[in-house]
Amino acid sequence: MAGMTISKLTKMKAAGDKIVSVTAYDASFAKLFASCGMDFMLVGDSLGNVIQGQATTLPVTVEQVAYHTEAVRRGAPDAFVMADMPFMSYTTPEQACHEAAKLMRAGANMVKLEGGEWLLETIRMLVERSVPVCAHLGLLPQSINVLGGYKVQGREQSAAENTVRQALALQQAGAQMLVLECVPTELGQLISSKLSIPVIGIGAGPHTDGQILVMHDMFGLNSDYLPKFVKNFLAEAGDLSSAVELYIKQVKDGTFPGPEHSFE
Ligand code: KIV
Repeated sequence: MAGMTISKLTKMKAAGDKIVSVTAYDASFAKLFASCGMDFMLVGDSLGNVIQGQATTLPVTVEQVAYHTEAVRRGAPDAFVMADMPFMSYTTPEQACHEAAKLMRAGANMVKLEGGEWLLETIRMLVERSVPVCAHLGLLPQSINVLGGYKVQGREQSAAENTVRQALALQQAGAQMLVLECVPTELGQLISSKLSIPVIGIGAGPHTDGQILVMHDMFGLNSDYLPKFVKNFLAEAGDLSSAVELYIKQVKDGTFPGPEHSFE
């Protein structure tokens, strides 16, 4: 949506209006998403998987995210664009500031970082220097070698409590949005109710403040492995813009994600 800002997204959460978002990597799709009324777009490091054909997001560099951010910005000059900080680009607060500057100069409105309490100082430093931050908890694809697979997170009581604690701490440090990936519906609902910042779910159930999907998944282009939370909107809608409009409509009216796309 043109003229979207973080304060408008926060007001949408407060009003109970669902936020809808998708990844974008190039100008043509960014233009299509903007024209359909997408609330914001993420230049995700999932570009490693869906654009480059890598097995994980780990090989993606800041320069590559910046390149795709520039393209998305050219396609959607007025859109709210978030850019992922890739693996090992924010190991210290100083490095994070240096690398985030490249993404902001490329046209991002906000950067996203994966991780919990170890990021508090980094988030404070970025926010104090006028870089808005989205945190990312639950399944962290950049930590795939530690997690040992793409599994649902926060199923045990202690892990769920830990995720809630980390979410509150990230908000307290200045994060203005949270992406929550692959957690049980109940945990998605609990975290969304405890935070005042928008919580955007992907595989986190229907009760988060909004949803995000990788655009290739929305169009059914992911032929190998299909996560449970994915829906092929193109199959139902028939053409690209109708598919985007259907995704937006079903997130806004609460019909997507349904129980068949969510984890117990
Ligand atoms: O890189 C990505 O696509 C993500 C997802 C959560 C949408 O971070």
